[in-house]
Amino acid sequence: MAQPARASRPSIIRCVAVTGLALIVLLGLAVLIFWLAVRPKPLEYTVDDTRVHGFNITDHALNATFDLTLRSYNRNHHVSVYYDDVEATVWYDEQLLAGAEVAPFYQPRRNVTTLDVRVAARAAPLLSSVEKSLKRERSGGGVAFEVRVWARIRLKVGAVKTRHYTLKAYCSPVLVRFPSAQEFEKVYCDVDI
Ligand SMILES: *[C@@H]1O[C@H](CO)[C@@H](O)[C@H](O)[C@H]1NC(C)=O
Ligand SMILES: *[C@@H]1O[C@H](CO)[C@@H](O)[C@H](O)[C@H]1NC(C)=O
Ligand SMILES: *[C@@H]1O[C@H](CO)[C@@H](O)[C@H](O)[C@H]1NC(C)=O
Repeated sequence: MAQPARASRPSIIRCVAVTGLALIVLLGLAVLIFWLAVRPKPLEYTVDDTRVHGFNITDHALNATFDLTLRSYNRNHHVSVYYDDVEATVWYDEQLLAGAEVAPFYQPRRNVTTLDVRVAARAAPLLSSVEKSLKRERSGGGVAFEVRVWARIRLKVGAVKTRHYTLKAYCSPVLVRFPSAQEFEKVYCDVDI
């Protein structure tokens, strides 16, 4: 009497295991096909121009206004990007000088969006070593700043939107010549997501 029950238990387990395995394989296949179809390409950033106005170091603090022209390029054919929070900052020698928020935007597929961002340092206190080298480079005619972009983004593929990712772009050296209005050399940024 107990014989059929004993025989059926292993087969149920086997059946569940086989089904589970098949599901996992199918899921993996679906992800692979999705990935191959979409083939996400990295998002690209460059700093196309930087102008500095009102550069003044007094009492170990900096005043300066940076007018940045950032170029954001989405090369993807199938992926569009929601930029929900965007911030641009200017650094010198690993010291933060100034930052500004950028208005959120949506970037379609195969799209270039140019962001004009004004970042102002208002009496930003400087470490003495930073002040020293900043003054030296300034009087030498050119200062190498770093521009960073930080953003919370979501990707959209077809009707599917992903969760939030953090994008970080590091653009260095952003060489600003004094007096300004001289030619600016475009800077390619390292982008991490
Ligand atoms: C910087 O600001 C101080 C105080 O406002 C002013 O006296 C000085 O001339 C300014 N320097 C430059 C280079 O603009
Ligand atoms: C990129 O997308 C923005 C926002 O939709 C649009 O205003 C702009 O014209 C697009 N740029 C290009 C080069 O297609
Ligand atoms: C720097 O900016 C602050 C705030 O706007 C202002 O009070 C200060 O006088 C400025 N300093 C210089 C040296 O221009």
